[in-house]
Amino acid sequence: MPLVAVMAFVTATPGLAQAKPLRHSAVSSTLSPSLVGHGVWLGAPVGAAKTPPMGWNSWNAFRTEVDEDKVMGAAKALVDEGLAKLGYVYVNLDDGWWRKRRLSDGRMIVRTSIFPSAATPDGNTSFRPFTDRLHAMGLKAGIYTDIGRNACSQAFDLHSPNLPEGSAAEREVGLDGHVEQDIGLYFGEWGFDYIKVDACGLADYAPGSALVKDNGYIGLKPEIYRDAINRTDDAAVKKRYARVAAALKAANPDQDYVFSICDWGMADVRSWGKDVGSMWRASSDITPNWSSMLHNYDAVTKRALYAGPGHWNDPDILYIGQGEFDADHLTEARTHFSLWAMMSAPLLISYDLRAAPSSLLSIWSNADLVKVDQDLAGNQATIAYDSDDVQVLVKTMADHNKTVAVFNRTASPVTVALLASQLKLRDDAPVELVDLWSKKKSQFKGQLSITLAPHETQVFSASGERELADGVYLSEIPGAINVADDGVKTPAPDPTIHRMIDPWAGTTSGSVHPQYAGWGGAQADATPYGQGFQIAGEAFRSGIGVLSNSLLQVKTDGAYRTLRARVGVDDSTPNPGRAVTFYVYADGKLITQTPPMKFGDKAREITADIRGRHVIELVSSSATAANEQPVVVTWGSAQLLK
Ligand code: GLA
Repeated sequence: MPLVAVMAFVTATPGLAQAKPLRHSAVSSTLSPSLVGHGVWLGAPVGAAKTPPMGWNSWNAFRTEVDEDKVMGAAKALVDEGLAKLGYVYVNLDDGWWRKRRLSDGRMIVRTSIFPSAATPDGNTSFRPFTDRLHAMGLKAGIYTDIGRNACSQAFDLHSPNLPEGSAAEREVGLDGHVEQDIGLYFGEWGFDYIKVDACGLADYAPGSALVKDNGYIGLKPEIYRDAINRTDDAAVKKRYARVAAALKAANPDQDYVFSICDWGMADVRSWGKDVGSMWRASSDITPNWSSMLHNYDAVTKRALYAGPGHWNDPDILYIGQGEFDADHLTEARTHFSLWAMMSAPLLISYDLRAAPSSLLSIWSNADLVKVDQDLAGNQATIAYDSDDVQVLVKTMADHNKTVAVFNRTASPVTVALLASQLKLRDDAPVELVDLWSKKKSQFKGQLSITLAPHETQVFSASGERELADGVYLSEIPGAINVADDGVKTPAPDPTIHRMIDPWAGTTSGSVHPQYAGWGGAQADATPYGQGFQIAGEAFRSGIGVLSNSLLQVKTDGAYRTLRARVGVDDSTPNPGRAVTFYVYADGKLITQTPPMKFGDKAREITADIRGRHVIELVSSSATAANEQPVVVTWGSAQLLK
C-alpha cells in the first residue's frame, strides 16, 4: 500500500495527554509549545458585548461640537422612537467632552460649558448625573479617550472651540500614564458602561513634528505608522491596550463593560483585538461616501473567523443620514445597514436624532435586520460569491437557517444568479425566502435570478434542506471558531481591500494605499490568500484555509460526535518545500495526527471521535524558517457531525 494511502492516525488514549512532549519530538516537524492544544476556550467574551453593541455615537453627527442637549436629545429619541427597545442602548460620547487634566491630582475635568450637569457644587466636575439620567432611561453610557497622551481632535480639529485647554501637561487628556486612574474614574466613579479608546496619541505626536511644535504639545515617539506596517510596534500597542483591558476588568466587578479599540486596523489588531477588546476598528474613519463605505466594509469581510460572541470586527459607526447615505439615497443607506448587519458589526447610529425623517428611522428600525446582526451564534457572514461587481454573503443563524445578502457594488443594474449551493442548501429541494426589506415571500429550487438596482442589496432569510443534514461545516460557524494563532509571522497589507479615496487630501495626497495587516489570515471557504481549495488536484468547496504553524479552536460544547476533514498542503502554497503535520486535540488531549504531508501528497481524511468534547483544536505544524514563505494548508470539507 503506498504510504499516502495509509491512514496512520493515532486514536485517543487516556495516557496520550501526558505523553505529549514525546509524541511531538517523535515526528519530523517541529511543534512549538504555543501550538499544543490549550484545552480551554480562549474565545470567551471580553466585557459585555455578547452581541454587537448597538446605540448612538456623537462623532459623525457633531464631531467636537457635541453638547449635553444634543446627546440627551439623541437619548430621548432612542427611547421615544422605539430604537432602544430594539437594542440601541449605548449613548456614546466621542471626542470633545473634556476640558483638561487637573495637574494637582491628575483628575480629568469635564467641559461644563457644554455638559452643564457635570458641574458639582464643590467646584469639581462629574459625569455621574449625566450617566444617572441615561441609566434611568434604561440606556447605557459610553465615553471616549485615547491610548496616548493627546487625542485625535488635538491633531485634526484644531479649529474646534472644544479642544482641551491649558498647559501642555493639562492638555494631555489621553490614558498614557493614567490608565488605572482614568478607567477607575470613568467606570467606578462616573458609572460609564462603554469606552472607545482611540490611538492618534500613538501616531501623530512625534517629538519635533510641526504639529507638536506649532501647538506646544510634549510629543510621544510614535508606535503606530499608518503608512508603514513594518515601522509600527505591534507588541507595544497591544501591551498598552491590554493594560486598559486589565484596568477595565478591575474597575467593573460585574464585567458589564464594552471596550472598543480604535486603532483603525493598525498594529495587526486583526490578530489580537479579540483577545483584548470587545470590538476593534479594521480601517480608517468612514466618510459619507460610497467608496469609503465599501472600503470599511471590505476591511472586515475576510475576517469572519476572528469575530464571534463577545468580540467583533468594527467597520466603524454608521453614516446613514448624511452625504451619499442621506434621505435622498435610501438605496445606499439600506445597503450600508444591510452590510453592517451581515458583518455582525456594531450598529451605532451617528445622526442628529432630534430631527430624523421617518425614512431614515425605518432603516435603523428594521427589526429583521437587527435580528440578523444580533443573532446569538455570532457568525459573521462569509462570502459565497465574490467579484468586483457583485457579492453574495451568507450568514448562518443560531437555528442553522441562513440569511443571504446579494449586493450590487456598482452604479448600474445587475442580474445575479443566487444558488442554493451558495447557501450550503440542497439544490433539489425548495428554498423558502423572506425578503427582509419588502417582507415578500418566495421560493426557488436550485437557482434564482435576482435583478438589483444600482447599489442595491437584497437580504433574505432562507430555509431549505441543509447539504449537511446531520451537522455543520466549520466554515458555517465562524463564531464558534477562535483563531488562537493564524501562523502569520510577518504582517502584510491586505491587497484585496478596495482602495478608498483619501477624504482628507483628495488627489493631493499622492494616493495613500491602505496598510491593514491581514493578508494570510485564516479564512472560511477560501485559502488565506483568497484562492479556492485544492489538495493534489482535489478541490473542496468548503473548508478552512490557514497557514501552517497555526492553531484554531472550535467550540463544540459536547454537541457533536465526529470531526471530519480532508487535509493537506494546498496546491496554491507559495512554499511547496516543507512538510506539514496535522494534529487534532479534544479538550487538551491529542486525539489524531497525520504523518508529515508534502506538497502534492493526496488529501488525508481525518475522522475524530469528539463525543462529549467541548473544545476541539486544529493544529498544523511545519518546520519553516523565519525567512521562508509560509505554507498554505487546507482543512477541506471540515465538518462536525451529530
Ligand atoms: C478618530 C476616530 C474617529 C473619531 C475621531 C475623534 O479619527 O477614528 O472615530 O473618534 O478620532 O477625533
